[in-house]
Amino acid sequence: MCGIIGYSGPLEAKNILLEGLAQLEYRGYDSAGIACFDTRSAVQVVKRTGKVAALKEACASMLRHSHCGIGHTRWATHGGVSDTNAHPHRAGRVTLIHNGIIENYHSLTKRFSLESRLVSQTDSEVAAWLLDAFYTGDPYSAVRQLAECVRGSYGFCIMFDDRPGEIYGIRSVSPLVAAYTRSGALVASDLTALIPYTRKYFVVPENHIVKLTGYKISLYDLDGNAVLPEIMEVNWNMDAAMKNGFPHFMLKEIHEQPEALKNTILPRMTKGLPDFTDDQIPDEIFTECAQIHVVACGTAMHAGMVARALMEPVLRIPVMVSIASEFRYEEPLIDEKTLVIIISQSGETIDTLAALRLAKSCGSKTLAIVNVKGSTIARESDYVLYTHAGPEIAVASTKAYSVQLAALYMTSCRMALVRGKFTREQAAAFLAGLLDAIPAMETMIRQKDTERELVTHLIQQNDTFFMGRGLDYAFSLEGALKLKEISYIHAEAYAAGELKHGTIALIAPEVPVIAIATQEHVFSKMISNVREVKARGAFVILLTKEHARVDEGLADIHIKIPDLDDRFTVFPIAVILQLIAYYASIGKNLDVDQPRNLAKSVTVE
Ligand code: M6R
Repeated sequence: MCGIIGYSGPLEAKNILLEGLAQLEYRGYDSAGIACFDTRSAVQVVKRTGKVAALKEACASMLRHSHCGIGHTRWATHGGVSDTNAHPHRAGRVTLIHNGIIENYHSLTKRFSLESRLVSQTDSEVAAWLLDAFYTGDPYSAVRQLAECVRGSYGFCIMFDDRPGEIYGIRSVSPLVAAYTRSGALVASDLTALIPYTRKYFVVPENHIVKLTGYKISLYDLDGNAVLPEIMEVNWNMDAAMKNGFPHFMLKEIHEQPEALKNTILPRMTKGLPDFTDDQIPDEIFTECAQIHVVACGTAMHAGMVARALMEPVLRIPVMVSIASEFRYEEPLIDEKTLVIIISQSGETIDTLAALRLAKSCGSKTLAIVNVKGSTIARESDYVLYTHAGPEIAVASTKAYSVQLAALYMTSCRMALVRGKFTREQAAAFLAGLLDAIPAMETMIRQKDTERELVTHLIQQNDTFFMGRGLDYAFSLEGALKLKEISYIHAEAYAAGELKHGTIALIAPEVPVIAIATQEHVFSKMISNVREVKARGAFVILLTKEHARVDEGLADIHIKIPDLDDRFTVFPIAVILQLIAYYASIGKNLDVDQPRNLAKSVTVE
């Protein structure tokens, strides 16, 4: 979950590391640190709790004229948030930064009698001391021995005192990308740190050692053979990773959704029909499966819930959705007749990756819906449907959710077509309906003042309830997550009919209930449920389509979306729910883009 970066080259290393860490900060922001070889080739470390800005201030007059260094921004796993637990860690002749978790650090500490040496409570420092113990002047041998004894996930960047100008990296599960550029050699946990310098990069393969010097990057397997890196090119530029005049990344990313949707849908349409030829996804994976299992975490899993509600009635085969962290331990009933759809913005979420590996080991076909090109999930899945949202920087997922939905809607449409559940006309009408959702989203973005005003009530309350039926229930789940994670208001989503079975006891005067009622076939039932909470004094925020007629006084606030086919209302509704969360966070004066305790990419279990 942490951000890591290494640089060796002609420019001032400190500046490159600090700028890179600012780009990577969304991966973790408990503390940050850098280590550089100084002008006398000695390693100097500066680390601080707090954000990169605090680190920048701390080293303002230090680490000048250095050309090689490593930097880290932390999301604490082992050991609290403190200067000592911040990375880089020094151990004898070794300086190390780590992204991931070393599961056997306790037994390694005992085995190598490290107890008296450790100054931090981190698993990472154990790795640094091990390397120091293994180092006899050959960095490859030391790194190889480290890889042989640690279990868990890691991306390491390492400097050895007697090798100024050199950085060594290795990874297992945790991501590491590298590039040689005109400005020097860079390695990082994430592309966003490399983009200011290059569009060409490579993913460091697992269990390979990468070596950076000021004039080249080399890659070796664990047997010491040189390996040619597979160079990839990013399809977005630095602008995409900047705020561009918006006060927060989240608001910018909410605004980017219509464009992201077009980029995801239009290249996959031929004569009005879904076409995955360029993605090299064969129709056989759709025709030969007897069931679908969607696996993901968080927002991506909520996109899966929408897909289930959409797909099952059309395809008439079982569609199940699982939380990846549960799926991997519950011996799921999947086989070679199962299509497992894996959804992940980052393509690095550790539980989702483990679920993918499990699905493959059971012989299932795997299709990954992923935003980050070249990510581990994208590379390991049988087939990939890339979403084209560009980089999503705010921790709260917005545009990634919409494009995941778009990709799932297209998959569902293609499946229905090739399985004979849709005629060509029905498939074309479905895609036309999907495209209609884009201007509806634009309308809701233009009307964002409505949400800005309505949060004044919300932010004075401790709880908020979301409710809906069918697809609307699936949308509610995401609305509640969004509100919780950035406004810290407790929120729960309920299938509206379920409220009476317990939760309605919590509805007291002024408790906000966000009721989503866009599904025609359950509209009247839904309105009855709204009456039930209103009768108990709830403050009702009702979301319906434009034409919906409701009794005067039923809702305290009534937000209308354009009249769309029921299947596509999620898109404008998502915008409303995102904006409610956004303005609630602003109203409470919180850190919208980097909410407490969270990190963008969850690469530890
Ligand atoms: O990168 P992924 O899509 O695999 O991430 C999964 C979740 O961690 C993520 O969707 C998370 O729930 C969101 N950041 C919440 O807004």
